[in-house]
Amino acid sequence: MANPFTLGVASGEPLPDGVMLWTRLAVDPLSTDPKRPGGMAPRAVEVSWQLAEDERFTQGLRQGTIQALPVWGHSVHVRVAGLRAGTDYFYRFRASGGQSPVGRTRTAPDPASSRPVRFAVANCQRYEHGYYTAYRHLADERPDVVFHVGDYIYESRQAAGVVRALGPLPGETSRLHEYRQRYARYKTDPDLQAAHAAAPWVPTWDDHEVLDNYRGKGDGSAAFLRRRGAAYQAYYENQPVRVRPEDGNLQMYRRRTYGTVADFMVLDVRQHRDVTTMLGPTQEQWLLSRLVISPVKWRVLMQPLFFARRVVPGDNPGVRRDSWDGHPAERARILALNVPGLVVFSGDVHNAWAGELKSDFADPGSATVGVEFVGSSISSRPPETDGPAVLARNPHLKFFDPRRGYLSCTASAEELRVAFRAVDFVDRRGAPLLTVGELVTKGSGLTLENTSSK
Ligand SMILES: [Fe+2]
Repeated sequence: MANPFTLGVASGEPLPDGVMLWTRLAVDPLSTDPKRPGGMAPRAVEVSWQLAEDERFTQGLRQGTIQALPVWGHSVHVRVAGLRAGTDYFYRFRASGGQSPVGRTRTAPDPASSRPVRFAVANCQRYEHGYYTAYRHLADERPDVVFHVGDYIYESRQAAGVVRALGPLPGETSRLHEYRQRYARYKTDPDLQAAHAAAPWVPTWDDHEVLDNYRGKGDGSAAFLRRRGAAYQAYYENQPVRVRPEDGNLQMYRRRTYGTVADFMVLDVRQHRDVTTMLGPTQEQWLLSRLVISPVKWRVLMQPLFFARRVVPGDNPGVRRDSWDGHPAERARILALNVPGLVVFSGDVHNAWAGELKSDFADPGSATVGVEFVGSSISSRPPETDGPAVLARNPHLKFFDPRRGYLSCTASAEELRVAFRAVDFVDRRGAPLLTVGELVTKGSGLTLENTSSK
């Protein structure tokens, strides 16, 4: 059989004593045969895995075997437990006579640890829009953990202005084999594979993993629920997450705690949503109570959508109903808690922003109750945006940059430092890495350092 490890390896969901290991077998990743996703025959394949403390697999070796099943797209999710906290590990797989690349992962620190946490935030990687050079640079940083805040794939197909073609895939994904193919196309990218192999990931989704701007159960039709179920299954099959979909749902919101430094509350702004609520009552209650009792320095919301108010000159009111500006009462309930160390990370808008969260966005003199950092995009094109004009209309927003990139962050007991990494082009390979802004918060308000935004 040909090499089945064409989609790379990944790890994720780090806990102090364990991680998930992932791969998905695909001998022909771009196959369009609905009965043979990834070119795999419809039968189980035995996969063996190894994990050790060194890259030569001699120290503290653990190993096992697991079946890659056709019903889960020949994906493999290995739950490894009993590991040491705050420790690097290396892992690899074997199947059908082939061997995977080696991945590096890292467990979360001990709950009592006050060690700084190095993490990256990425989002929005439309394949046709360009190369994933930013991911190559992110991989070189080898952070403790990578958060992805959505638009890992796009369900639609760009017709014009394509930097690189999707290949023999359907126009818009709606069935399971189509979503599987779309993930396979994206995951053949060597820079994306490098980023997964460099660090454990904790992903959440936005809309394009299913359908542009969808909410909850959509129109409630059986057709939409079938489509959403297919998309959620393909998401699970292609991410190193801990839980499987059940009855067409996938439990996504969760927290990942890093010692006494940071509590990352990973939100799901799609599955439980309707016109009146972004999170749904159960998730909102979970978030509000966790924010209050969380015993850490930084209470971090990891989620896709622009959180602060953003008035765009010339926009119709209600244009950004899809973001938190469409749910001001729910946002106000979060900010009214006035918990210390509140930080929000977001993506979605394809430009980089940072700002302060105000107790009353209409009053620039009101209290600052948190900060927000908005990642740009790995490759997805930005809308035409007059950044300086938006900054002028929204005094709580402090930073704008229009380039593709990601966020490189360090949280410690004293401060949170966020470097806006960027590349000048994605229409060809090889863009050097730039740092276009470095922002620091000690718990109230933002300070800009070394900023070269344009
Ligand atoms: Fe996007």
